[in-house]
Amino acid sequence: MSASSGQNGGTKPWGGRFSEATDPTVERFSASIHFDKVLARHDIRGSKAQARMLGRAGLISDTEAEELVGGLERVAEEIEDGTFPFDPALEDIHMNIESRLRTHLGAVAGKLHTGRSRNDQVATDLALFLRDVSLATQRGLLELRGVLLERARENVDTVLPGYTHLQRAQPVRLAHHWLAHIETLGRDAARFRDARARIVRCPLGAGAMAGSTLPLLREETAAELGFEAPTRNSMDTVASRDLALEYMADAAIAMVHLSRLAEELVLWSSSEFSFVELADAYSTGSSLMPQKKNPDVPEIVRGKSGRAIGNLVTLLTVLKGLPLTYNRDLQEDKEPLFDTVETLRDSLEVMAGAIATLDVRGERMAEAASDPMLLATDLAEFLVRAGVPFRDAHEVVGKIVGHVTREGLDLRSLSKNEMQGFHEAFDAGADDLLDLERSLESRALAGGTARVRVEANLEEIAGELAAERAEIERLEAEAAR
Ligand code: ARG
Repeated sequence: MSASSGQNGGTKPWGGRFSEATDPTVERFSASIHFDKVLARHDIRGSKAQARMLGRAGLISDTEAEELVGGLERVAEEIEDGTFPFDPALEDIHMNIESRLRTHLGAVAGKLHTGRSRNDQVATDLALFLRDVSLATQRGLLELRGVLLERARENVDTVLPGYTHLQRAQPVRLAHHWLAHIETLGRDAARFRDARARIVRCPLGAGAMAGSTLPLLREETAAELGFEAPTRNSMDTVASRDLALEYMADAAIAMVHLSRLAEELVLWSSSEFSFVELADAYSTGSSLMPQKKNPDVPEIVRGKSGRAIGNLVTLLTVLKGLPLTYNRDLQEDKEPLFDTVETLRDSLEVMAGAIATLDVRGERMAEAASDPMLLATDLAEFLVRAGVPFRDAHEVVGKIVGHVTREGLDLRSLSKNEMQGFHEAFDAGADDLLDLERSLESRALAGGTARVRVEANLEEIAGELAAERAEIERLEAEAAR
């Protein structure tokens, strides 16, 4: 029966204070069960720790504690196998589970909520949830970087133009380009790792906002739930959502990075570039134009980055005017958070698939990179090595480029005499300056395009990813316990 049909709040646990049922509109408006059911597993985990602690604290008998734990396990199974009867009249996941427990166990179920409020309960659920999803996100980022690393290994000898302002700038190895994205995504992974390392204090026991008069064993529930310690301030505990904010901020950054990577795939798969072709499994056709093969997957990723940004702004806005401590506005944290978690998870997965199956058109890239204009900087730096001030060298080469452009010439067609007409320092040493391989190899500084640098990076990153994988696996095993 729904609460609204009862005479005093019916199934609601606060029935005593009320003489009228909740208006059905209000019930629908305030219910969160349709989205906070995502927290079921975490809620039950917290409740089991709570039940055991109540037993150890002598607040309930050992038998009652066991009964509660057994009942919660039964509820967990129902949720797992899809037979749990979610009831919107019971507002949220916390009350749905407690009510079901009462159906199974009778009056003893009423002891579970001893010394607890939904305020510290939901904060606990969220902390447990964030700990899980942060780790899963780290794994997603690891897998994508693994794919990029594979592609980088295969493409040390594939050369393409690097771009600034989307204008051809200087030649680079495709490996160097993929490694650039690995760097960015590596910092993203580190952000989730850092944020997860801050989820170390357990909210359970903060009560509604001021703690409890009962002798709760907060250290014990904290330890059982894998936290280092209980939270230090009950008010902050129920009022704050910055752990969720941090996840969402980190996710918004990561989604923006995925969006930039996606944008390159969109550009590169256009006929204008034709640098890559997405696998059939990662593209779609047009319902009207038979010839089309569209890069929908990267486009959707690019589009979805907007959600991640919007979700972050939503929660920031929800929080900005709230006085301490818990306010019901906080319920608005969940949908944006869950949406961001899903969006990032799926985007990482499809991007990894799209890149793993990408057909790289090395010959098209090479053609674009063969434009000798890309080596103009090398000419200027040659003059610098001959003692010409860089500004002057830039000016000289600018004149050469202007000349060949006006005359429709190939930079490589200029004779030594013509070159020396622009600057006498262009002597025999300048002979193979316009050679692509030489240009790549001459950038042998840390961070440069020379083969030794790129190969050293490949090795270093392979080592980092392996170490990260081992750490993630260790944490996953810990979380599964
Ligand atoms: N569904 C609520 C939320 O997500 C749970 C806490 C409700 N607490 C309360 N005092 N009404 O925030």
